Amino acid sequence: MQPSNTEPGVDPQSRCCLHVRMRGSFLGLVVVRLWMSGDSMDPTDSGRSGDGGTGFLDVLDPGAVRDPYPEFARLRRQSPVLRRASIYAGAPASYVVYRHDDVTRVLRDGATFSSAVIADGMREVWGRKIIVGMDAPEHQHHRALVSVAFRQRTLARWEESLVGRVVDELIDQFVDRGHVDLATEYTFGFPAKVISGVLGLPEADYQQFQQWAVGIITVFRDWDNAVRCSNELRAYLERIVEERRVTPRDDLITDLVTAELDGERLDDEEIYSFLRMLLPAGIETTYRSSGNLLYLLLTHPDQLDAVRDRSLIPQAIEEGLRYESPVLLTARLTTKPTELSSISIPQGAVVTAMVASANRDPDVYDDAETFNIFRDEHQHMSFGTGPHLCLGMHLARLETRVALNALLDRLPGLRLDQEAAEISDAHIQGDSLFRNPTSLPVEWDHSNTVS
Ligand code: HEM
Repeated sequence: MQPSNTEPGVDPQSRCCLHVRMRGSFLGLVVVRLWMSGDSMDPTDSGRSGDGGTGFLDVLDPGAVRDPYPEFARLRRQSPVLRRASIYAGAPASYVVYRHDDVTRVLRDGATFSSAVIADGMREVWGRKIIVGMDAPEHQHHRALVSVAFRQRTLARWEESLVGRVVDELIDQFVDRGHVDLATEYTFGFPAKVISGVLGLPEADYQQFQQWAVGIITVFRDWDNAVRCSNELRAYLERIVEERRVTPRDDLITDLVTAELDGERLDDEEIYSFLRMLLPAGIETTYRSSGNLLYLLLTHPDQLDAVRDRSLIPQAIEEGLRYESPVLLTARLTTKPTELSSISIPQGAVVTAMVASANRDPDVYDDAETFNIFRDEHQHMSFGTGPHLCLGMHLARLETRVALNALLDRLPGLRLDQEAAEISDAHIQGDSLFRNPTSLPVEWDHSNTVS
């Protein structure tokens, strides 16, 4: 499928492809939702009527891109600011940026690149006041209030009592077996349990919470179900929020209801929007990033051996995030005409910042296409940058560190199960928005297992 648009900045070789086949949720989904909210849009029409570079509606395609990085490298060189053709009359102009310096500028210059595009798309599911869709000054104030709950110091309390317990319980289920698929029995399970614990929800409610969480995070596959789950979760949370106002406890909901700045507190809408956004923000990302890191270490046994003494784990986590970002992109809307890499961009254009491509930019990283936990430069864009820098990054790092440590502690000689990996063709794949391993079959020295 070749784009027909030949305007400046439009890449003639671009396929319907990587950055437009949106299917999941979280950040990129909002762009899709915005697109689909056009009056004449019929999602079942799905752009199959020919694409001409308008493949945003290929969202219903399951999407299984194995390696988008050669295409990203070509685009960084040839079309670093890619103009996408419009899908329908009246759609905003759309650009995708691939280079590290352009992505940095888009994410740091909130006055020119507004996050409102995210709020517009997701209001119905997450609520009216979502932090990731706010601009200054509202964003600064809101962020200052909620960030209390995410300070590194505050998070330390979850390490043993919650995250350590959750991952140990999961390992208990398979430790005596000698082999397991970590993607289905480990990485998928722990982030939802951790978020539920961080929020301080009663354990008895976990299954119901998980159903709502799955409904919300699979929003794009079933929008109506996501809205229903979101409304039910809000009704459920109202009771918990009221309880915490009366009887504060040591949990994130208490932190949110008691947070105060210059005599102001978060209002109810802000609290419920924030809590509902935490599900996609905190679950989808972390299960994918921990799976990607495990896949990369298991398929680079020398580097897996190097982390066994644990001192290299922090830099392995950062290199895993750089090399295989779980979230490929985020989006902004221009508030005025601007220019990126000498391409003019009009006011009111949607600009997609391809953070995964920025992470492999050879202008910034030596030997950028190689996974190497020993490299000196570990700064990456996977948590974003600028005013919306991921608030949950310390929690995500903590979860990944505890999850990896527990595996190394309890499964001696942990290694890829080569035969199972070949049979299942284990690899990392994704759509235009997320990437994660298809499976993670492992084995270990069963007789030395630490029960
Ligand atoms: C490896 C895991 C994670 C990745 C890769 C990730 C990625 C990101 C990115 C790229 C952004 C910026 C979006 C933008 O600029 O438009 C972001 C923002 C955010 N993330 Fe994460 N995230 C992760 C884990 C988490 C976790 C565990 C939580 C909370 C439990 C969380 C909560 C948030 C919040 C609240 C924001 C919005 C911050 C703001 O708008 O000021 N994230 N995340």
